This record gives sequence, C-alpha cells and structure tokens, in this order.
Amino acid sequence: MPMVTDIEPRELKPALLELDGISRASIEAHYRLYQGYVGKRNEILAKLETLDRSGANQVYSELRALKVDLSFAIGGIKNHEIYFAHLGGGGGNPTGAVAALIERDFGSAEKWREDLKATGLAGRGWAWTAYDWDEHRLFNYIGDAQNTFPIWNATPLVALDVYEHAYFLDFQTDRAAYIEAFFANLDWGVVNGWIAAYGIPAA
Ligand SMILES: [Fe+2]
Repeated sequence: MPMVTDIEPRELKPALLELDGISRASIEAHYRLYQGYVGKRNEILAKLETLDRSGANQVYSELRALKVDLSFAIGGIKNHEIYFAHLGGGGGNPTGAVAALIERDFGSAEKWREDLKATGLAGRGWAWTAYDWDEHRLFNYIGDAQNTFPIWNATPLVALDVYEHAYFLDFQTDRAAYIEAFFANLDWGVVNGWIAAYGIPAA
C-alpha cells in the first residue's frame, strides 16, 4: 500500500482579497471550500491505507466509494489551486507565450474569450483552457463537477470556476457578469509562468 502523505492547503495570495468585482467575503468562503477538499483528500487516503481490499465491488464497496470521492476531492484541490493562483492580475488581453498560443489555436483573444465564456455558461462547474499534449493545441474543455470531465494528457492553464459558490454572493444568478469579472482579474504572467515551467512549445 502506498504511504499516506498529507498535504496542506496552499496559502491564499493577498491580492485575491482585493479583486475587482469579486468580493473578499466571496473569496474567503471559496477558500474555505478549498481547505475542505484538502482535508477530505487526506482523510480518504488515510482510510484507504488500512482498508480491507477483499470487499472491492463495482456496485457498492467502501473501496469504490472512497476512490470515487477521492477523485472529487483531488479535482477540487487541483481546480482551485489553478483558480486562486491565476487571479489577482489586471486581466486584459493575454500577453507573451499564451497570447501566441491563443492566437494560433482560437484565431484571436476575442474568440478565445467568447468560447471560454460560452463553455462556462454551458458547464455546471468548470471550464478550462488546456493544452493537449497529443493534439498539440489549446482547447476550452467543459466540466460539471470537480471530477468531470478531465482529459488525459492535457494541462489546464486557465480554470474558470462556474459553480454557484464562486459568484452567487456577488452576482446572484448573473453568471455571465461573473465570468467578465473573472477575465478582468486574470494574471497572464502566472499563466505564462506555467507555460514555461511545463515546457509547452511556443506557437
Ligand atoms: Fe469553487
């Protein structure tokens, strides 16, 4: 059995508490949800450590329940770590390497924004701009829950949270207005840092 290694929530950048249009109260509540995902991830892995594997069953079993919900917890961690990391910037059009990738794969920043916004309105939880290492391009993927529908071998670079908890406090049901605020607070420098760190080929 793999050894359990607890992880800790990443700290929230101070800039997240001073976003344009997304309130401090909203971000603080959202961060507590993220802390909850980390706690459940650690709890599930600890339970898996000692679980008797002989009861494994696809209809219902503790192993199944723990592993299905582990995917939800891990999704909640990874999604929110991207989300919190790349907010706190000045928004506007993409710059640097990501600008060239978006231009190549969507035609323009405007078309990328239009498609990501539409994807965010069509999703029940998430929309991601990810680089697919097999297709060698960016695409705006749709998500519903924390664990639907990730694409293997694709690296998310923009994670748009469209769960109601992300916007209801500030925008009630106006998700479109929240998505505009999300764009206005993106930090393209952070996204370009990931492109460099992951070695995503330049356009
Ligand atoms: Fe969220």
